[in-house]
This record gives sequence, C-alpha cells and structure tokens, in this order.
Amino acid sequence: MIPQTYIQELIARTNIEELIGSYTQLKRAGRTYKGLCPFHSERTPSFVVYPDNQSFYCFGCGAGGDAITFVKKINNLDYVESVKFLASRAGMKLPEEDDAQGRLRSRVNALNRDAARFYFERMNSEKGVQARKYWRGRGLSDATIRRFGLGYAPDSFRETFVHLKSKGYTEEELLASGIVKKSEKGNLYDVFRNRVMIPIFDVRGNVIAFGGRNLGDEKPKYINSPETLVYKKSHTIFALNLAKKSASKRYILCEGYLDVISLHQAGFDTAVAACGTALTAEQVRMLSDYAEEVVLCYDSDEAGQKATSRAMELFESSTVKVTVLTLPNEKDPDEFIKRRGAAAFEQLLEGAGNTLEYKMAKFREKYDLRQPDGQVNYLKDCIELLALAATPTEQDVYAGRLSKEFGVEKRNILAQLENVSRINGRRRQRQIQRDLLKEGAAASIRLPVGISGEQALGVAMAQQQLVAALLKQPELLAQVKGKVAPDDFLQPELKEAFALILQREQDELPFDLPTLSGELSEASMAQLSKILAQNYEMTFAQEDIQLYLDRIQAGQTTSKAAAEMQPDQLAEYFERIKKRKQTIELSEQE
Ligand code: UTP
Ligand code: MN
Repeated sequence: MIPQTYIQELIARTNIEELIGSYTQLKRAGRTYKGLCPFHSERTPSFVVYPDNQSFYCFGCGAGGDAITFVKKINNLDYVESVKFLASRAGMKLPEEDDAQGRLRSRVNALNRDAARFYFERMNSEKGVQARKYWRGRGLSDATIRRFGLGYAPDSFRETFVHLKSKGYTEEELLASGIVKKSEKGNLYDVFRNRVMIPIFDVRGNVIAFGGRNLGDEKPKYINSPETLVYKKSHTIFALNLAKKSASKRYILCEGYLDVISLHQAGFDTAVAACGTALTAEQVRMLSDYAEEVVLCYDSDEAGQKATSRAMELFESSTVKVTVLTLPNEKDPDEFIKRRGAAAFEQLLEGAGNTLEYKMAKFREKYDLRQPDGQVNYLKDCIELLALAATPTEQDVYAGRLSKEFGVEKRNILAQLENVSRINGRRRQRQIQRDLLKEGAAASIRLPVGISGEQALGVAMAQQQLVAALLKQPELLAQVKGKVAPDDFLQPELKEAFALILQREQDELPFDLPTLSGELSEASMAQLSKILAQNYEMTFAQEDIQLYLDRIQAGQTTSKAAAEMQPDQLAEYFERIKKRKQTIELSEQE
C-alpha cells in the first residue's frame, strides 16, 4: 500500500495539463485545456483537462480520471507502476522501492553490459567466424558493428551462463536479466544460442535487453529478451540513444532492427524502431521529446501499411509532425538502401514532404489564380486548411508566403486564421452541448439490469449530482451523512465511490478525485470525472443538496408508498414529485 501522504505529494508535484500535454497537444480554453483525445481517433477536440480538480474527461469516448488513471490507461500500467512512473517524472524517490529492488536493478544493468561485451568478444573469437560472415553479408562495416555493439551468442546451452557466473552474478540476478532461464529439471541454461546479437539500449545508454537473430532462415527469426525489471518493450525505442545525439530533429521510424542499423550506416542517424509488436502511446511520447518530425518508413507489405495507419492515428494528437515515406518497389528501407543507395533514399525523404504543401498544391489546381476571385477562393481554402491542420509556426510561415505571393498583409491573413479557428471552436462547443442535450444527460446513465424507467433515471441523476458536489465541496458531506447509504446508489460506480468517501471521512483522510484513484475501479474513476466535467462551473449550495436528497428519497419510496395509497392520494403524490422533478431540471439547465 502506498501511503496517502505520498500520493498527495505526488499529485501536488504533478502538473496534469503538462503531463497530458506531452501526449496530446492542448490549447487553453479559460480555466480548462482542450485537445484531441489520445484514447480514440478524432478530428475535432472533445477532450478536456480540468486543472482545478486535477482531472480529464473526453466528451467523445467517455474516458476520464486523474493523472494516475491517465498514466495507467495510456501506458497500460497497473496502479503502482503508474505511481512510479509519475514519481520518477516528478523527481520523487520511488515509493516502497526498497534498496533491495534498486540494487537488483543496477546489478541487472551491469550484467547486461557484461553479456554484451561477452557476445562481442565471442563474435571476434575463432568460433564467431559465421557471425562475422553474417554481418558482412548484410553489408555492415566494422564501425557499424562497433557502434551498435553487435555480437554473437555461442552455440551452447552453458557458455554465456558460465561466463557470467564467473563474473560473480548470482542465480537470482541471472534469471532477472532474462538471459538465462531455468529448465523444468531446475538447471539454468542460455536463452540465446547460435544467434547474432543486437543489444537494446535505453535512452541513457544502459544495455537493457537483446534481440538475437537466427543466422539462417529458420524460425523464429528473432528471439528477444523477455520483459524484465529494466526492460519494458512498450517504453523502449531501439537506437533512440544514438538518434538523440543527432543534430537533426527529423526522425525516421522503421520496423526492423536491421533497417535501423542499415540507415545509420548510410548516414541517416535518426533512424529508430519501436520495440514490441505495435507502436505505443508512450513510445510516441518519448519520440516527441526529441523529434520535431517523424517520417514513417515501415515495410511496404500489408502489415507495414496497417502499422503505418495505426502510427498515424497515434501521432495525430501529438506535437510531432508526421509524414509517410513510401518505398516504390523494395520491401523495406534496408533493401532500398542496398539496391539504390543513400542518395536515392535522401530523395525519397525529401519527397515525403509535407501534407500541407501537398494539399495547397491541390487547391492551386482548382482555381485560376490569374483571376481575382480565383485568388480569393484559393486564399480562403488555404486559410481553412491552415486553421484546421497547421501548427502555429506553420501558420506563421505560410501566412508570410501567401502574403508575399498575393500582396495581402500578413496581419490580415493571421487575423482571418484566428477568426476561422474561433468559429470552428465555437461550432464544436455548440455541437458538444447539443449532443449532450439531445441524448439528455440522463440517457448516458447506464443502470444495472433490472432497474429502469424515468423514475430511476431521475434518481440516478440526483445521485450523480450529489457525488459531484461532495467531490468538489467536501464540507457538504455533513449534510449528506446518514441520509443516504452506499446501497441506495443505483449505479455501481457511484456506490463504490460513495462507500469510499464515507470510509475516508471516517479515517479523516481527504477524498478529492486524485486521492481516490488507488482504491477505485477504472469505471468508477471515469464516471466521477464525467460528472465533475459536467459540473465544472457549478458551485453547490445547501439547497441543491437538499433537492438531490429529496429526489433520491422520493424515488425510493414511490413504489413502496404508492402501493398503499388511495387513488386521489396517489395523484397528488405524483403531482408533487413532478414539481420536484421540474425544479431539479431547471437547476440542472442553469
Ligand atoms: P523483420 O522480419 O522485418 O526483421 O521484423 P528485420 O529486423 O528487418 O530483419 P531482416 O532484415 O529480415 O533480417 C521486424 C522486427 O520485428 C521483430 C524484430 O524487432 C524485427 O526487427 N521480430 C520479427 C521479432 O521480434 N521476432 C521475429 O521472429 C520477427
Ligand atoms: Mn525487415
């Protein structure tokens, strides 16, 4: 269990808009921030970050939560891992990472480095002839082999193990590195045998894993290190340790280790590859720390093209500009470089060009630019495009170019750009509100099977409001305590939340959203963020709370009470409920 005080400090040190802003570009909108949702693909932003209550909510897909939930979701981590992730980001000592864990981690790092040295020496030994031949056959120079620390794992079940043991590593450390495995009989044996070895480095330059390629065509082509204490595939980018030293901020993202190695040898020192099977949001974020532009250069086969569209979606909401490079006839960049040389690849890279320019060229073909109205229409199209799809810097650059070309003041173009952006934003905002109204906030409440009807929806809505009020203004709990019990809540997510709130109050602990996330389900966190988002501007008064309590109580007693009522009593009773309901609806519309 991580202590509450630790979580509180972590939350205090975490700037949620900055955290989320490194995964998706956020624009300030009053006290909130808006951007494209990193959890689903969209073209107009419906994702909102609320710094005031440290939460986020997507009106498009319903994803929501606090900083910890965000890290959990986007990186596919569990709660403790997410806390650690945020802690290292905030420069805090990791919780409960006792010294033993830290020690094992640094031993495994040292072990991996020793293993890489060993593989390199083996490659250069007598027994490494085949490996040296293999690398030569792939066209790699000594300098490249050295730069990437390539090597060879001998054809033996014990050699690597025996060597590392002689260096003083314990069984626990050997197993933790993933280089050695335990057989059913309990013997340790080498995972990598008779394979050429490619060390994988983290950004700081530690060897954290290996890819071992078969010398021939047998399957599997590669054996990779398993995930370990120091290696998380979804958080690793092959060759990023080298690429980050380049002066160029234009990265080339390929599929294979060998594509990357080949490209580096040909002088393209920003080539990298994502470890693991599919590109992850965290890898995109890591790249955005270093790259301004990423050229996708996947294999030309179907799988590669699928990976390309997936990657484009992931990059859509990042700050990085993405372009796609299509290989004309060759299967992958490695083959292209070998057949056609570095200069030809350079040309392809230039041609990968920029989608803005490509689209503006298309507009040009549409109009007769010698005519004034052709010019006006062309400018209009360009401004729409720039407002929608360009970064501020791009907007500035292209506004300058258009101004020169057509003799229009740059100031005017920029003003129009801003105008269009504003109209788009407002249109979008209105759309969100219309959607919400159309569905009726009530229609989006999911109730457990067996509970249904207007009545139940009304009650559920009042319960939502009640919980929102408590999260925003904890002092209101005094008015609520004893009047409703967790079991009264119709939605399981709220039942869970309310029970925890009561518990926290009893333990004299805080119960704002971020401090709850360790003990609530993801569904509950999402639900809470949603109701917070819906009540963002709302300040609750005691009268509101009373109204919600009445509504909840009325709902509970209707069926029971109604069964015993005379017809005229019943009519009057419903009249009363209807009135109450109207008052609630009015207050919700404000
Ligand atoms: P490729 O098959 O394209 O490998 O798989 P490659 O690195 O380009 O190697 P060559 O040129 O065919 O020799 C792309 C990436 O997918 C992973 C590896 O990371 C590889 O670099 N992969 C592929 C595996 O992990 N295991 C496999 O069996 C195959
Ligand atoms: Mn390949």
